[in-house]
Amino acid sequence: MTPHQLLRDGHIEAVPLAEIARLYGTPTYVYSRAALLANYSAWRAALASHPDALICYAVKANGNLALLDLFARAGAGFDIVSGGELARVLAAGGDPAKVVFSGVGKREEEMEAALAAGILCFNVESADELFTLSALAKKLGRRAPVSLRVNPDIDAGTHPYIATGLASAKFGVPVAEALELYRWASQEPSLRIVGIDCHIGSQLLDPAPAAEAAKRLLALADRLTAEGIPIEHLDLGGGLGICYRDEAAPTVADYLAPILAAVSARKLRLIFEPGRSLVGNAGLLLTRVLRLKHGPVKHFAIVDAAMNDLARPALYDAWHEIVKVVSSEAPSEAHRYEIVGPVCETGDFLGHDRLLALAKGDLLAILSAGAYGMSMSSNYNARPRAAEVLVDGHTHRLIRRRETFADLIAAETGLS
Ligand code: LLP
Repeated sequence: MTPHQLLRDGHIEAVPLAEIARLYGTPTYVYSRAALLANYSAWRAALASHPDALICYAVKANGNLALLDLFARAGAGFDIVSGGELARVLAAGGDPAKVVFSGVGKREEEMEAALAAGILCFNVESADELFTLSALAKKLGRRAPVSLRVNPDIDAGTHPYIATGLASAKFGVPVAEALELYRWASQEPSLRIVGIDCHIGSQLLDPAPAAEAAKRLLALADRLTAEGIPIEHLDLGGGLGICYRDEAAPTVADYLAPILAAVSARKLRLIFEPGRSLVGNAGLLLTRVLRLKHGPVKHFAIVDAAMNDLARPALYDAWHEIVKVVSSEAPSEAHRYEIVGPVCETGDFLGHDRLLALAKGDLLAILSAGAYGMSMSSNYNARPRAAEVLVDGHTHRLIRRRETFADLIAAETGLS
């Protein structure tokens, strides 16, 4: 799906965004149930030849309980990276037996909670983590299901902050070390080897690096099988990119084709951990123009959303389409606008150099904001976080209320 598909004539599905702004205010994240489910179905359909394949939605992309509930009901599992994400999945009614737990810094209490919940697999990222998990499982009288996250040393060709598969990254263990660790784990009664995994990066637009990573993991899986250490599943992580502007993002089927060809007739259950490709283009951020400011060098449209609501432009120089949804009454002249928020930083921008005819009070939609939007938001500048609304046909539902000022100070204690 492309960014603009979500929005038709100022509507998401059959609901006018103007009505959402009137009812819930701005800034507000708005998601389409139909688009979320269509994205999930595209993954399912592309895996039709592997009916036991598990799609573990990467909670970090957007952890709202309503979205997790929707995906759980559709049959998805979940990729989590913290005890907090586990709590979210459980609160949403997700099945712990479909949860994989990634992350380089799992704390013992998080491991313990995941063991107690009975997750499908720990995606272990270092020797120390493996030893810690083994000792903890032994102490608790449990067997921990493990997979080693292998770092295949592959350049995924994406933004350096979200490339994870190079030897220089903090993620995973090199293939040679993985082999040693699997041998060690296979002797440990408190561990049960279930899989092998990798995740080479995010917003991948070329299927080739992921397919190459799959081949390297398969070679290791074959080697382990030959040594009598059988592997049940192959988890190839997330990473499939989406179209934000004019990128030719592969379809799920095109992305998976070379991977499925490499797996061929092996009896391995496949697991994927997509985040962005499930939610990115199923959501937008609705914001209102607070005022226009025509400076000596640039024209600014100051809107009520900011870098605390959507960090991606400030953090990665990411492009999000920005479109005018509803015009206020005032006639306006087109200018090349800097679309900026109220936060006190020059880096607080949502878009540069956008040709738009704007007036105070206009409603704007910042597209492709369903992934890593709300989940990366903060309270910087003591700004309450945005509301979230899920649209379904003609209906809309508030799935997270706007924060209040009381929420902002609720966890703090003054000195007197
Ligand atoms: N699995 C693991 C182990 C991951 O680290 C990630 C993302 C995913 C799955 C999901 O990847 P996806 O399918 O969404 O590409 N904040 C950045 C993206 C960070 C991605 C981190 N890991 C952004 O806004 O672009």
